[in-house]
Amino acid sequence: MVAFTPPICQNASTHAKEPSVRNLNQDTLTEAVITRLADTPDPRLKEIMTSLVTHLHAFAREVKLTEAEWFAGIEFLTRVGHMTDDKRQEFILLSDTLGLSMLTVAMNNDKPPGCTEATVFGPFHVDGAPHYELGEDVANGAIGEPCEVHGVVRGAGGEPVPGAVIEVWQADAHGKYDVQREGLKQHQARGVLAAGRHGEYRFRTILAQAYPIPDDGPVGDMLRATGRHPWRPAHLHFMIKAPGYETLITHVFRKGDPYLDSDAVFGVRESLVADWVQQPDGGWRVDYDFVLNPLRRQ
Ligand code: BEZ
Ligand code: FE
Repeated sequence: MVAFTPPICQNASTHAKEPSVRNLNQDTLTEAVITRLADTPDPRLKEIMTSLVTHLHAFAREVKLTEAEWFAGIEFLTRVGHMTDDKRQEFILLSDTLGLSMLTVAMNNDKPPGCTEATVFGPFHVDGAPHYELGEDVANGAIGEPCEVHGVVRGAGGEPVPGAVIEVWQADAHGKYDVQREGLKQHQARGVLAAGRHGEYRFRTILAQAYPIPDDGPVGDMLRATGRHPWRPAHLHFMIKAPGYETLITHVFRKGDPYLDSDAVFGVRESLVADWVQQPDGGWRVDYDFVLNPLRRQ
């Protein structure tokens, strides 16, 4: 890159020592913007903004971005913003489908071997899910084939984690979460349970099925324009919390699902795939044990 030695402002009384940004060209502009960030008081914000500008400009240069393409990008992000409200988080969908969510999860959840791996949070968690006793039915009327889920929550040393707070949420047989259903008054297919004395948990619910992420907005347009499908393999979402352990946000995926190798949001890990077994009465059962990572002592 061409070295940039900006001239000092002549006439601006309030910014007398700042370099002038007049007459910048494509070789000098990036460094001028970065110089403008020099006084950012928060060092982490300064690092992030400097890197963002560096990479954004490098991207525009690499693809030789035209003005029409720049404007198409602005219009796309505007549509993403307009689509987003308290029920529909199109920005999370965009991050998920670009692999940014999973990259952030992977970089921040490097756990010791044996601990349950983390995966994407997704946009369909809600606060205030109903609490259930062990063995109860969290489906609460959601449509789907009956299914039991069993397992144990342990720590990395194999110790049971009694009382671990287990939050589960999933889509129904039509691929919809309760929050996607207009007018539904109660929560369905989501709930909070406490693991028993030996870390054990069990609940009834419905069979997890593959479903497409919402693709009736700009993210769906992006998927179609790039020849991608919107499907996620069948899964249950879990968030597990216990004192002394890192919170685990993960999924359990259903073995044999045709989308395990092409998840629209890149969230599948082999260690999270479990066997849903059909029972003699026609219902289903899956067993999955979770292993929590102890918090590091400061
Ligand atoms: C989900 O699994 O609920 C989900 C994750 C990412 C994007 C959309 C949906
Ligand atoms: Fe999901």
